[in-house]
Amino acid sequence: MKWFLLFVITLGLGLAQPNSTYNHFRLPTALRPQKYDLRVLTRLENPEELRFSGTVKIVIEALQNTKNITLHSRDLAFNESQITLRQISGEKKTDNCVTSTVVNPTHDFYILNTCEELLAGHVYELRLIFSAELNRQPEGYYRSSYVDPAENETRWISITQFEPASARLAFPCFDEPGYKAPFVIALGYHKNFTGLSNMPVKETKPHEYLADYVWTEFQESLPMSTYLVAYSVNDFSHKVSTLTNGSVFRTWARPNAIDQCDYAAEFGPKVLQYYEQLFGIEFPLSKIDQIAVPDFNAGAMENWGLVTYRETALLYSDAFSSLEDKQHLSNVVAHELAHQWFGNLVTMKWWTDLWLNEGFATYVASLGVESIHPEWRSKQLESLSNLLTIFRKDSLESSHPISRPIEMVSQVFESFDVISYEKGSSVLRMMHLFLGDEAFRSGLKSYLERFAYKNAEQDDLWESLTQAAHKTGALAKNFDIKTIMDSWTLQTGYPVITVTRDYTDRIAKLSQERYLLNTDISRVHRRECWWVPLSYTTQAEKDFNNTAPKAWMECSQTGESLPKTIQDLPDTDQWVIFNNQLSSPYKVNYDAQNWKLLIETLNSEEFQTIHVVNRAQLIDDVLYFAWTGEQDYEIALRVIDYLQRERHLLPWKSALEHLTLLGRIVRPTPNFQSFKRFIKKLITPIYEDLNGINDTYKPIQAQDEILLRTTVATWACNYQVSDCVPQALAYFRSWRSETNPDEKNPVPIDVRSTVYCAAIKHGSDEDWEFLYERYLKSNVASEKLTIIDGLACSREVWLLQRSLEMIFDPKEVIRKHDSAWAFKAVAYNEVGFLLAKKYFMENVNSIYQFYYPLSKTMSRLLPPLYDQVSTRGEYNEFKEFVANSQESLKGMDQAIQQTLEIMLTNVQWRERNYHKFTRAINQLL
Ligand SMILES: *[C@@H]1O[C@H](CO)[C@@H](O)[C@H](O)[C@H]1NC(C)=O
Ligand SMILES: *[C@@H]1O[C@H](CO)[C@@H](O)[C@H](O)[C@H]1NC(C)=O
Ligand SMILES: *[C@@H]1O[C@H](CO)[C@@H](O)[C@H](O)[C@H]1NC(C)=O
Ligand SMILES: *[C@@H]1O[C@H](CO)[C@@H](O)[C@H](O)[C@H]1NC(C)=O
Ligand SMILES: *[C@@H]1O[C@H](CO)[C@@H](O)[C@H](O)[C@H]1NC(C)=O
Ligand SMILES: *[C@@H]1O[C@H](CO)[C@@H](O)[C@H](O)[C@H]1NC(C)=O
Ligand SMILES: *[C@@H]1O[C@H](CO)[C@@H](O)[C@H](O)[C@H]1NC(C)=O
Ligand SMILES: [Zn+2]
Repeated sequence: MKWFLLFVITLGLGLAQPNSTYNHFRLPTALRPQKYDLRVLTRLENPEELRFSGTVKIVIEALQNTKNITLHSRDLAFNESQITLRQISGEKKTDNCVTSTVVNPTHDFYILNTCEELLAGHVYELRLIFSAELNRQPEGYYRSSYVDPAENETRWISITQFEPASARLAFPCFDEPGYKAPFVIALGYHKNFTGLSNMPVKETKPHEYLADYVWTEFQESLPMSTYLVAYSVNDFSHKVSTLTNGSVFRTWARPNAIDQCDYAAEFGPKVLQYYEQLFGIEFPLSKIDQIAVPDFNAGAMENWGLVTYRETALLYSDAFSSLEDKQHLSNVVAHELAHQWFGNLVTMKWWTDLWLNEGFATYVASLGVESIHPEWRSKQLESLSNLLTIFRKDSLESSHPISRPIEMVSQVFESFDVISYEKGSSVLRMMHLFLGDEAFRSGLKSYLERFAYKNAEQDDLWESLTQAAHKTGALAKNFDIKTIMDSWTLQTGYPVITVTRDYTDRIAKLSQERYLLNTDISRVHRRECWWVPLSYTTQAEKDFNNTAPKAWMECSQTGESLPKTIQDLPDTDQWVIFNNQLSSPYKVNYDAQNWKLLIETLNSEEFQTIHVVNRAQLIDDVLYFAWTGEQDYEIALRVIDYLQRERHLLPWKSALEHLTLLGRIVRPTPNFQSFKRFIKKLITPIYEDLNGINDTYKPIQAQDEILLRTTVATWACNYQVSDCVPQALAYFRSWRSETNPDEKNPVPIDVRSTVYCAAIKHGSDEDWEFLYERYLKSNVASEKLTIIDGLACSREVWLLQRSLEMIFDPKEVIRKHDSAWAFKAVAYNEVGFLLAKKYFMENVNSIYQFYYPLSKTMSRLLPPLYDQVSTRGEYNEFKEFVANSQESLKGMDQAIQQTLEIMLTNVQWRERNYHKFTRAINQLL
């Protein structure tokens, strides 16, 4: 198109000189943007030519004199003859200009050298004209598509994804979170489409010369970081909800999925209003849109006023989505809306404190979901899940602190991990529980008010909370939040507290050290110290509700743990339990007598007198200690043997996560038989009690029982408990005999994953084809994922190989954003594992190309590999593979280190525990 034929300046082509002297990873601080005026014209009519072109005017204040303007820009083409620079304030207005430009590809800098020095205190306006292809990878300003079933035609839309550092792919800008500025955005597009952005529409008028094109200008935004800017041109439909304060809340999806928007359209506004009350601060925009994007790399993105989601995180169908899907969706929506305060209103200064955004959104989301759906009892489940996740990941030496220095964009990507989200959330919950609601909330409120429309770092939060805690008396005056919390956010890992009771003196001595999974690491490397709030209760008291600390483990000035003695404990016939309701992220080991007392209670009618979360805690702790050798498997298995009585989800969840890992290691060994019998023994009572997978038996009242049933069904069919497999096959047969199986599915929703898997595992090629056909025809994203899981249960090598090839096929029968999910499904299958490992290792370079440049995505393929490698030979082979594949594993350093470390701990387990473990199991059979 001729009016945008520009020459490209990338990597040293064109006028730009390849090198610059300034090579720091942060922008120079001489300039500060005051306002952006951004106009973007998007062309979507010709699928061969999906492009955008734009003009940005940036009002820039000079804080120091400087002779260059350094901005971020990547893969944008500029027409350099059209750059203008003028001074717009100050006494003596003179013209200025740009003499030359330089590109620094390492840091994505676009450096404009100016004719005259820009002078401190003056304000300038820089105008740049640029264009690019709509990105083919889901970052920056990119393309996405769906098929309109009525016309059988592909429809294209455009959408942005900027966090953490991709705004620079869409327009030149100061792309760091600290540079907040208001944005005035205008979108040009064909009038058949709709344009959306952060703010409400100000006006729409015809394009100056393009027929049937319009310009839509949006209202000026509040000051915001570049990574929160968003816009989209699409032909979607929407549902409108109105908030009580008059704001408009709209939910958007492709037209043929609009009937899946009802739930999000109802839930979103509710949770937004809940946050207004919780924080005591109104949502500042007069509209908010949420949109389901067909291709989306992350789960969702909290852009201010225009929140984007992958379809599984926003769309819900009564007929095709399970309760688990619904809870997942609620959680994601609640997370993104929490960011409207934590992240959007108050933003971290630099990516080091990403956890302030992510930890908060994760924690606050669990409060939001609980408040709107108390019947789900999801807060407990969510906090337990988070803890189980970090207990594993953060027990690796290769883990990292919550708050950590960030220098490269690739490190920012790596920070979007369980440490920022789940550990961040867990330490915030800990703080909420030790401070109490009043101090926590008033501290947050004052933090949000102090830093609204600004940037903050964790010390600012600690200060607000310390003030509130001292004012309300929630924290003794000689304690401050910074000292306590720094021990959790600046150090890697978490402690294990060893409780040694003296039953005659009725005291207990407590010590702490870092808990590590790798048993080769000596004690001297575990001597970190954490400030640990100690809550506990006794067999007589059973006061698990009180999560306020009765004492603290403290650290000396030099960071050594101070010994702690707890007085007035009961004598030999009563247990104590520390860490009521797992309020803080630490493990607790006891002396043999205390474990003996706990095992007695668990294996009696009285087991429910121990709080359900602490039952889950005991299971998780003891299984870890057995793994790392601090306890015997005899003790650990006697703890979990009580599960035959357990009817609550949480202890099961805790146990099954361990049994899953153990099962994957034991599966290819001769003693798997014993393991199978042990699982059957544990699962059979609860399977029978829930009446298997027969849906018509009794209506389930409690929602968490539905999740329990989904879980139990999966295990029962995997281990062929009772009638699970025949029942599953019967359900599948009746589905196959439906005349219109895409509309009518007799399989109960919450056991569909189990039924599909069992049917494919035990079924024929025709069963596979039938299910694959359903995949192609399904219009519901979450149902598609369930089917992908089912298809991967085949034991036919050729079908599994076909799946693997389909996953990385550029034709994307499986969308690229689902590829990691699909790969995992195959690789966790016992037959699929070897195929998948081989496929990964042989094709690592083409897989790298497949994801390039979003290479972090590739690390999502690793869990099934590290979970199942457990012999020294396989470990060495993988290590060698890594050494030989540096080029194809670039940007994944953290993930690779963790992978190797987990593999190593599996090897250690196999060498040290395998025989002990089977012996202990055989004793219980
Ligand atoms: C750059 O802009 C100038 C001024 O509008 C125009 O004459 C020229 O053709 C453009 N260059 C290219 C390569 O499009
Ligand atoms: C540019 O910088 C890189 C790294 O500092 C150096 O290796 C290279 O030789 C430089 N190139 C030029 C043309 O100066
Ligand atoms: C641009 O200006 C800043 C501030 O004066 C300076 O620190 C930096 O080195 C300059 N950049 C280049 C590439 O010269
Ligand atoms: C839809 O179009 C594709 C390619 O254009 C074709 O392969 C397919 O058979 C069509 N499907 C239907 C149901 O017409
Ligand atoms: C716009 O919509 C009209 C009516 O549906 C259609 O005929 C036309 O082809 C569309 N144009 C574009 C560019 O999509
Ligand atoms: C603990 O709290 C729960 C939920 O708030 C309540 O149902 C229960 O009765 C309390 N238990 C005790 C012992 O106070
Ligand atoms: C489910 O249980 C009911 C009641 O026991 C029974 O009538 C029905 O046949 C069962 N359904 C299946 C599919 O087995
Ligand atoms: Zn988030």
